[in-house]
Amino acid sequence: MPTSEFASLSFYRTQGYVDGAWLAADDGSTFAVHSPSTGAHLADVADMGRAETRRAIEAASAAWPAWRAMTAKERGALLREWFTRIVAHRESLARLMSLESGKVITESLGEVTYGASFVEWFAEEAKRAYGDVIPPHTRDRRLVVIRQPVGVVAAITPWNFPLAMITRKVAPALAAGCPVVIKPPAETPLTALALAALAEEAGIPAGVLNVVTTNQASEVGLELCENPLVRKLSFTGSTDVGRTLMAQCARNLTKLSLELGGNAPFLVFDDADLDAAVRGALTAKYRHNGQTCVCVNRILVQDALYDAFVERFSAVVAGLRTGDVLDAQVQVGPLINEKGVIKVETLVADALSKGASLLRGGHRREGFYFEPTVLANATPAMRIAREEVFGPVASIFRFHTEAEGIAMANDTEYGLAAYFYSRDVGRCWRVAEALEYGMVGINEGLISTEVAPFGGMKASGVGREGSRYGLDAFLEMKYLCYGGI
Ligand code: SIN
Repeated sequence: MPTSEFASLSFYRTQGYVDGAWLAADDGSTFAVHSPSTGAHLADVADMGRAETRRAIEAASAAWPAWRAMTAKERGALLREWFTRIVAHRESLARLMSLESGKVITESLGEVTYGASFVEWFAEEAKRAYGDVIPPHTRDRRLVVIRQPVGVVAAITPWNFPLAMITRKVAPALAAGCPVVIKPPAETPLTALALAALAEEAGIPAGVLNVVTTNQASEVGLELCENPLVRKLSFTGSTDVGRTLMAQCARNLTKLSLELGGNAPFLVFDDADLDAAVRGALTAKYRHNGQTCVCVNRILVQDALYDAFVERFSAVVAGLRTGDVLDAQVQVGPLINEKGVIKVETLVADALSKGASLLRGGHRREGFYFEPTVLANATPAMRIAREEVFGPVASIFRFHTEAEGIAMANDTEYGLAAYFYSRDVGRCWRVAEALEYGMVGINEGLISTEVAPFGGMKASGVGREGSRYGLDAFLEMKYLCYGGI
C-alpha cells in the first residue's frame, strides 16, 4: 500500500502548509489522490479554499520584510540546504511522483535531478542580482539602478512536472527575496507537500514558502489573482487557463509570467542525419508519454526522406515498452486521466476520418493507457495539426521546400518549442532565425536545462524561466537619481 511506504518518511504530508504550520482545511474537507497507473487510492489531502489561501498570502506578506532583509548569500545558503535535501531523497521523491502522476520511474528520477538543478542554480544566482551605474546626463547628478524583490509571489503549477515546475518558479522567487504561495494541482499535491517539508527542514522560515492544496482551483486561483498583497503570479498550464488568469490579474495589474501550451513542430530536412532525427523525434515526442508542453506535436518531413523516416520511426515506436510506472524497463506510462484519453482518442479519430494512415497503435488500453501511435499522411486540415495532443500520438506531415516547411511550422497560434534536423550550416541559421518559437532544438530533441531560458512566443506565454534571466521575473527595477552633487 503506497501510503504505508511513505508514511515513515520525514517529508510525507497530506495537509497544507501555511505560515510554517501543517493544517487541515478549515471545514476539515479533503480530496482523494489516485494513481493514474493503477487507479489505487493514494491519499486524502486537505481541500483548502479561499479563506485559507487569503491567510497564506497574509503570512507570506508578513514574512516578506525579514526575508528580503537577509543578504543574498544567506538566502542562497538556505536554498542550498533545500537542494541538498531534495537530492538526498531522490529515490523516494521519484517513487512518490511516479505514483501520483503516472510518470515512469526513470523519468521521475530525471525530474528530481532536473527540479533540484533550479534550486542549486538560483542558490548561486541570488548573489548576482546586479544593478547598474549609468553615466549621468548632467554634471551634478549620479544615476543608479537597483533591483528589489517584487513581493509576494503566487505560483500555480501543473501535474506533468510535479516537482520541477515548482522549483523553476519558487527557487528564483526565494533567491530574489520574495515569499511564495504555491497552489499545486489536485492530481499531484503529494510531491509539492514533500518539497515544502524539505524546505522546512532546510530552515526556510515560516511564511516564506506556503502550499495551499485544493480541489477548488478556480476559487483559489481567483484569490491569488485578486488579492492586492500578491504582486506577481507565475503560472504553468494551458493557454485557456492562462487567458483567464490574465484577465483576473488585470484588476490589480498583478505582474504575470505564463508558461502555456505548445504545438511543437519537428522538421526533418532532406540533408538530415536520418538516424539522429529518428532518435531525436522519439525523445521529443514520447517524453512523459507526450504530456509536456515542449513535446513534438507535428513531425514535418521533407519529400526525399519521408518514406524512410516513416518506416524507421514507426519501427522504433513499436519497440517502446508500456506498463507499470515503477518498472525501470518501462518507457511509456498512462495518461493523467480519462479526459486526457478521450482527447487523444478524438484527435486520432478525426485524423483517420480525414485521410491519415494508422501505422502503429491507435487504441486505448486498460485504465488510462493509450498505445504509442504513429499516423502518416497527416495534413493541416486535421485537428491534430492545430491542437496540443498531450499524448503518445506522432503525426507525420510531408513538405517539399525549405520555405514550405518553415511556413507549416509557423502556422499555429503557439510558439513554445520547435526542433529541426539538418546538416547544412547555412540552413541551420536560416531556419533557426525564421522559426517563431521561444526555444529551438537544432539536431537535438531534448533542450530543457536550468542554465537556458525556457519560455514561449505568441499564445505560448509571457516571460522566461530558468537561466540568468529567470531572476528578472521576481525583481523590480528602481532608478535612483542623486542630485546636488
Ligand atoms: C512543461 O512541459 O511545462 C515543462 C517541460 C520542461 O521543462 O522541459
